[in-house]
Amino acid sequence: MKMNPWTLSVLLLLAGPLGADPDWHVEYPDSFCVVEGSTATIPCSFTHPMVKEAITAPPAGLRVERVVWCANLEFCWHPVYNGYDSNSVLTSSRFLYLGDLVGNCTLNITKMLKRDAATYRFRIETNGVGWTGPNGVRVNVTDGEDVKVRSSVTDNVVKEGGQVTLTCTSACSFHQLDVHWYRNGHALSETGPALHLSHLTNGDTGNYTCSLDSSGQKTSSPWSLVVVEDEGFHRSVHLVVAVVKGVVLAVLLLLLAGVVLAKRCSNKTNEI
Ligand SMILES: *[C@@H]1O[C@H](CO)[C@@H](O)[C@H](O)[C@H]1NC(C)=O
Ligand SMILES: *[C@@H]1O[C@H](CO)[C@@H](O)[C@H](O)[C@H]1NC(C)=O
Repeated sequence: MKMNPWTLSVLLLLAGPLGADPDWHVEYPDSFCVVEGSTATIPCSFTHPMVKEAITAPPAGLRVERVVWCANLEFCWHPVYNGYDSNSVLTSSRFLYLGDLVGNCTLNITKMLKRDAATYRFRIETNGVGWTGPNGVRVNVTDGEDVKVRSSVTDNVVKEGGQVTLTCTSACSFHQLDVHWYRNGHALSETGPALHLSHLTNGDTGNYTCSLDSSGQKTSSPWSLVVVEDEGFHRSVHLVVAVVKGVVLAVLLLLLAGVVLAKRCSNKTNEI
């Protein structure tokens, strides 16, 4: 019996979602958390038996014709507006496909909106068959209301010369997020989820805040640091200074005595 391509593709479409063919596979995280207004890069990779064949034996006549990321749909069959569709010019320019047609399906979503929160699935179609990754990625969008500064020390008062590590936390995990730090409202050059302060001096005293984007919105409430003089440290510094002063004074006195002695000697020689 000769099967026409349409029947074949329908059969394969039915087989796909049942997971009957282990060669069809999309790998993406179960969930992904993004701060409103920031950019999300959702890592994704896929394997596809037809694509493999097409690479190893190009004249096989199979081509990847469409890649799709759809929101809250089980199969991404129809033209997609909320997501990415290589066949549609109507999709939002905020959805960028960073992947390729052979195994990388990474998706970039810029300026995340609250309404972008959805379960996204990836679909690939060749001129024969198509397949959609069944699980999808649950994308959550947080407004950053819960941004907090946490500190490695329980007390806000730290001795001079000591160290403290501040971390910026929120409901979202922080990989790939743009974290900025401020002391008394002034931006620090350090970026990233953790701020490590060591060799503390009085100049580090102040109110620290972090924000999840460079615009300074989604800013945490302040965490105040007070750096105090270390009494023991100062006592030993004073001791060293006193000893050095004493030695210098003694050397000067000796030199003076030497000069006076030499003068007397030379006076005596002159008298002779
Ligand atoms: C997929 O493409 C993205 C964007 O170009 C890249 O950052 C990532 O490393 C690629 N992933 C793999 C597994 O090659
Ligand atoms: C830090 O904040 C506290 C109250 O929140 C305020 O009393 C203090 O003056 C602030 N310190 C600086 C250096 O702005």
